[in-house]
Amino acid sequence: MSTASVKTLDRTLTRHVAREDEPRQRPLDYRLISRLFAFTKPYATPRNWLLVTVAIRSIQLPALTWMVAAVIRGPIAEKSVSGVIEGAGLFAILALSTQWVMHYRQRLALELGEAVVTDLRKALFAHIQRMPMQWFHQTKVGRVISRMTSDVEDLRLGVQDVLFVSLVQIGQMILAATAMLWYDATLFLIVLGLAPIIWFINQHFHKKLSIALRNMRESFSRITATLAESVLGIRVTQAFVRQTENAAIFEDLAEDHSRFNTVVMRTHGQFLPLLELNSQIFIALMLIVGGWRAFQPESTTNVGDLVGFFFMANLFFAPISILGNQYNQAMTAMAGAERLFQLLDTPPEWVDPPDAVELTDLRGEVTFEHVNFEYEQGRPVLIDFSFQVQPGQTIALVGHTGSGKTTIINLVSKFYLATTGRVLIDGHDIQTLSGDALHRRMGIVLQQNFLFYGTVAQNVRLGNPAATDEEVAHVFDQLDCADLIASLPQGIHTPVGERGVSLSLGQRQLICFARAMIADPRILILDEATSSIDSQTEARLQRALAKLLAGRTSFVVAHRLSTIREADRVLVLDHGQLIEQGTHEELLQLNGTYAGLHRRFISQ
Ligand SMILES: Nc1ncnc2c1ncn2[C@@H]1O[C@H](COP(=O)(O)OP(=O)(O)OP(=O)(O)O)[C@@H](O)[C@H]1O
Ligand SMILES: [Mg+2]
Repeated sequence: MSTASVKTLDRTLTRHVAREDEPRQRPLDYRLISRLFAFTKPYATPRNWLLVTVAIRSIQLPALTWMVAAVIRGPIAEKSVSGVIEGAGLFAILALSTQWVMHYRQRLALELGEAVVTDLRKALFAHIQRMPMQWFHQTKVGRVISRMTSDVEDLRLGVQDVLFVSLVQIGQMILAATAMLWYDATLFLIVLGLAPIIWFINQHFHKKLSIALRNMRESFSRITATLAESVLGIRVTQAFVRQTENAAIFEDLAEDHSRFNTVVMRTHGQFLPLLELNSQIFIALMLIVGGWRAFQPESTTNVGDLVGFFFMANLFFAPISILGNQYNQAMTAMAGAERLFQLLDTPPEWVDPPDAVELTDLRGEVTFEHVNFEYEQGRPVLIDFSFQVQPGQTIALVGHTGSGKTTIINLVSKFYLATTGRVLIDGHDIQTLSGDALHRRMGIVLQQNFLFYGTVAQNVRLGNPAATDEEVAHVFDQLDCADLIASLPQGIHTPVGERGVSLSLGQRQLICFARAMIADPRILILDEATSSIDSQTEARLQRALAKLLAGRTSFVVAHRLSTIREADRVLVLDHGQLIEQGTHEELLQLNGTYAGLHRRFISQ
């Protein structure tokens, strides 16, 4: 495979992981900050204590430094033993209290950040679950996941660190500056001139480092995505003998990753020594200036003051690079907050009206009145669709792939709303009905059946959470497939993987039937899977289906003749239009589209 095509494949593989097109940072924004701060409201007491510890912390380090200098200038210079002991004792007590406060400051900050982040995650998840189907079709899974993971993580650092660490550091800088001014104002002005240099070095390397880190993270997510696809798609890979090509793609990715890793290390390696060298050069400079000034005949500088000044200079410089990092962290958190709040603020395109009717005793009459529907504007999928179904009837939907069968089902289930025209359930416009109440009286088996991680029984209970083990087992009896369940290692308590991998296709389908059945729905919707199942299971599914459909209004997207023949009415779709309807026999007599489909496609 040529490098170019490897690169193209690489890009398609990773489309859903990378965040390249989303900005990593944005300027500080008061609106976002205050909104974020509002999330700390439920934790006002610990937050206020945190602010108290922050205030104490910012005084403590300068005070410690001040004490050391005072002991040197005073008792040590005067050679007073008792003075030195007293000074050292006080220093030890202050040091102890400093570490104690530091412990609580960190602990409170961690707890606050954790609580805020957990609340945000819960709010986001609840919000996402309320979004209508359309949103999930338009939003990449990778996007949703990165909102929940990296954005929330960035915010956590923002909440835990940025404000509180910065306050401590700023307080420390101000106090150190005041002390230096007091010791030696001229020397302080020299120091002040050096501060911006440290700031710029810091920012320059930080930018380099953050680009390198981002490249590294993205290359790593490409590796995980590729690995996941390789494992999930191993059958296809082996069947099409793509092992060598896949290995080539992976080797490229692994080498990329290693290169980005090296850049990160190298940048780190340049930055730290340079920063250290920088402050050492300043110290040398201060030694010269300070020494020269002390040698002047009229000088009032004493050695103790100079020592104090040097200590304070350290306290003044250290926060500069820390503040630089916090500033960058803050901008990253801003970008995360902006995206999170944007998602939280995205209202669902539609919600049930506040006075939505809860249909508790559903009869199951379904009417479509001149329904037009489009997923994307300008691309009609259903055109002027009208029909009526009496309670208890079984309707088979038949048509070519893409003709709109699943779409009809989506409208009956209120997953989408008609673009124009009306869908009526028991004579009520579906828009005025409560979706939740409707879904409780509806059983839905989707084209791509889905089993959650858990046991068979847990999956069936989604249809009726109150059902006992006996009731779950009874449903399989009713569907005439108790023996199939009995053949599973732990019966209804057999765990099924995230994708139900340990079960056959037919078994999975039966569990989905059971899930629909246990809800005792008035309206049943079944999007029959096209994949072929062995004839024995097939016969079993047919029997189960007959039991499931009995006495309920049912919509079945049917691919099998046996299902269609049993239906009260067959709706034949073509490019979103209802072109024929009637029973199987009537439609064969008509000798139109259905008869053609029947001859060519429908499994016998
Ligand atoms: N979420 C969506 N967004 C945009 N277009 C969609 C969406 N879902 C389906 N479509 C389009 O709507 C048309 C009808 O799709 P639908 O899923 O209803 O077909 P179908 O009859 O169920 O096909 P199949 O037999 O393959 O399941 C197709 O052209 C399809 O591309
Ligand atoms: Mg379909």
